[in-house]
Amino acid sequence: MRLAKKLRKNKFIYYFICLIVDIYSSFFSFLENFFLKKRTSEYHFQKTGLFKFNFEEDLKDILNLSVKFKDNEYQSTRIISQRDLKKVLNLIFNKNTREKITQITGFKYSIDHFQILENIHSLDASYKRSPHFDKSFSRNMLKIFIPINIDFQNGPLKVWEKFLFLEIKNKNKFNEYDPKLLLGQGNYIYGFNPNTCFHQLGNPDLGFQSQQIMIQLNPSLYWCFKQDLYKFQEFGESKFTSLSFLFNKTIKFI
Ligand SMILES: [Fe+2]
Repeated sequence: MRLAKKLRKNKFIYYFICLIVDIYSSFFSFLENFFLKKRTSEYHFQKTGLFKFNFEEDLKDILNLSVKFKDNEYQSTRIISQRDLKKVLNLIFNKNTREKITQITGFKYSIDHFQILENIHSLDASYKRSPHFDKSFSRNMLKIFIPINIDFQNGPLKVWEKFLFLEIKNKNKFNEYDPKLLLGQGNYIYGFNPNTCFHQLGNPDLGFQSQQIMIQLNPSLYWCFKQDLYKFQEFGESKFTSLSFLFNKTIKFI
């Protein structure tokens, strides 16, 4: 009886937190749409919350200079120096990429998190790799993924398109819907809104590993990156970034 009461109480707290997070998300999405949106986003992106385009630059040389830092048994982060990170950001977010992303989404962005992730096969398939959406963010937060060596065996990231969001949330049956697989050999840039698209980190087959770049972008007045971005490569992403980005010191792309 006491336990049931406790659980009911916890459930109440859980739903209350969900409500606060939802209000935060709606409020900042509204502000960003009103003050920061430069143009209407492309119809396909409005519907799917996902885009992909070719990437011509070669990142492999710079990535080879990275140092491996083990996060846990199944996942590592590769750290690069401040100088190399600046080079990588300027290569990825060259004028062409920035214009393409703004044309698709309607926003300019601040780059607030950068991480090179390496995964190996996890024996516990559910370990941190369950389908989810990123709750404590605005609906406009954008994740950029660049798969470096990802084929079907390397456990590609799965993304369920935005128009499936409510169906999946209500039924919680992921198997009924086919996700998009983020495959590539450093030749594609993918972007999606993780607050409105369910996604799941893949599990590489036994003996395979995956390497991909993951970047978090938040709407901003101009294209820039967080000044101390390199310091936070080995840490997880910060949450409630629409609020915290207001106080970030940033460097503008030239
Ligand atoms: Fe996520």
